[in-house]
Amino acid sequence: MTSRGLFITFEGPDGSGKSTQLRLLAARLRDAGKEVFETAEPGGTPIGMQIRRVLLDSQNREMRPITELLLMFACRAQNVDQWILPALAEGRMVLSDRFTDSTLVYQGVARGLGAELVYEVDRIACRGLAPDLTLVIDIDTETGLKRAQSRNARTQEIETRLDEQAISFHRRVRRAYQQLAADEPSRVKLIDGARPVEIVAEEVWRAVEPLLLG
Ligand code: TYD
Repeated sequence: MTSRGLFITFEGPDGSGKSTQLRLLAARLRDAGKEVFETAEPGGTPIGMQIRRVLLDSQNREMRPITELLLMFACRAQNVDQWILPALAEGRMVLSDRFTDSTLVYQGVARGLGAELVYEVDRIACRGLAPDLTLVIDIDTETGLKRAQSRNARTQEIETRLDEQAISFHRRVRRAYQQLAADEPSRVKLIDGARPVEIVAEEVWRAVEPLLLG
């Protein structure tokens, strides 16, 4: 019988560089002979990608925080059931660009819905699945937003509803991630994303390597 694969999530404010770090880690793990499955939220599955368009469409200004939270978890429920749990059951490693910690930080804290509500819906949507390790790529709010805005302009991105929130919203997001890392130090590692990509990747690798031996 294969043992369950490892589940690792990447988190961080918009423009922190977490997606680049996820790709670099996936490549390094494959070089080390691991079978890796990559996913991202909101989105992931084909159904999740349809929900993502509704969530991030900059015209959907009237969307309520609770609607936003439930749609995030609708994506996640589909991803957990259709892709993540089967991959883990086959013994593959799963890397996810965002997971429930994003909902905790963005909807629970920055939107003010509260952690209790997030964990309550998480129990239904994720059926007990939690990451083995979470890497939070930390970046100061101004730098992160500048990076996200230049990327959006480059790609003529229309899925910008959340990037366009006030700077105070993004500051709450950053603080909430820092608090999460302080609250759950054994699962959540805070990594300084202001340094060169290779240096950040090395620190990511140092956090992941011990889990590969276990
Ligand atoms: P993402 O596609 O990861 O964009 P970025 O690369 O800019 O981080 O996420 C899109 C937005 O959705 C981002 O602003 C974070 C937000 N988000 C939530 O508010 N709650 C969630 O549960 C998730 C997964 C994302």
